[in-house]
Amino acid sequence: MPASQDALADHEAEAEAIASALFAAGLSPGGRLLELGCGAVNTAHFLSGRFGCTLPDPSPRMLDLSRARNPGCTHALGDMRTLRLGRVFDAVLLHDALCYLLTEADLLAANAPS
Ligand SMILES: C[S@@+](CC[C@H](N)C(=O)[O-])C[C@H]1O[C@@H](n2cnc3c(N)ncnc32)[C@H](O)[C@@H]1O
Repeated sequence: MPASQDALADHEAEAEAIASALFAAGLSPGGRLLELGCGAVNTAHFLSGRFGCTLPDPSPRMLDLSRARNPGCTHALGDMRTLRLGRVFDAVLLHDALCYLLTEADLLAANAPS
């Protein structure tokens, strides 16, 4: 199996657990999901068939890889601390990108309304 496929497969079980948690929290199929810091080899690949995913990331390279893998998703270039999309979402997922926020001010900025 190619390394990228292997890395993708690593995300599948986690993505299933996340999808179950989102449904349990009341998100409906097709619900609007914002995933902050989508990366390239990603959880969203396994969520995009069930939710309408919007995927921001500050790295153009990561976005290019994610666009290729997840053509049905909306992508956006931006930093979660300052990104303002002017849209409303039913759920926000911050998975494996929280570690980039190193201060309380960063956390508060990322938690501000979009
Ligand atoms: C491990 S990857 C993402 C994994 C992805 N969330 C998943 O679960 O498959 C972490 C990503 O966080 C992004 N990132 C780092 N700092 C960020 C910030 N301030 N705002 C948004 N994304 C950020 C990086 O560019 C990188 O693509």
